[in-house]
Amino acid sequence: MVIFERNSFIFSFIFSNLDLMKVSKKFEELVRFASEARRDSQAKYSDFSVGAALLTKDGEIITGCNVESSSFGLTICAERVALTKALSEGKSIFTHIAVVGPAEDYCPPCGACRQLLYDYAPDIQIILCKKKDIKIISLKELLPMAFAETNLRKR
Ligand code: THU
Repeated sequence: MVIFERNSFIFSFIFSNLDLMKVSKKFEELVRFASEARRDSQAKYSDFSVGAALLTKDGEIITGCNVESSSFGLTICAERVALTKALSEGKSIFTHIAVVGPAEDYCPPCGACRQLLYDYAPDIQIILCKKKDIKIISLKELLPMAFAETNLRKR
């Protein structure tokens, strides 16, 4: 009995670590896709190339990069490009988004991206990257008391 308990403990320990490995492999892949998406960035005004990679609940990855305009305010961030691309392809449930910028520090999503992500994926987790470090933070932490569909109700 004792041996069985120990074995099952060891088994579940190994199992949960394998699970963790699988999860972190997926995150690594997501970060790699976000990083590679920077190559297509259209950032001739800021020279600040950003890549984003969205993960769907089925494990699909959709990437985006920032697309700038000479009328600066029309610029679209990598996160919004990835999100609108995914939605326009019929993908609608997202669990994570990785964002990679050119700076040494993390590249947290801007306010507009936080709002649009909140409208379509309020429970999404954001994977921020700097050099070899990643930080996972929930959108709800980044955008507390967000304006949402429910606030549009008049009564
Ligand atoms: N940018 C993004 O694409 N994502 C972010 O999270 C922050 C900023 C872009 C917008 C613009 O093209 C450039 O970075 C500088 O702001």
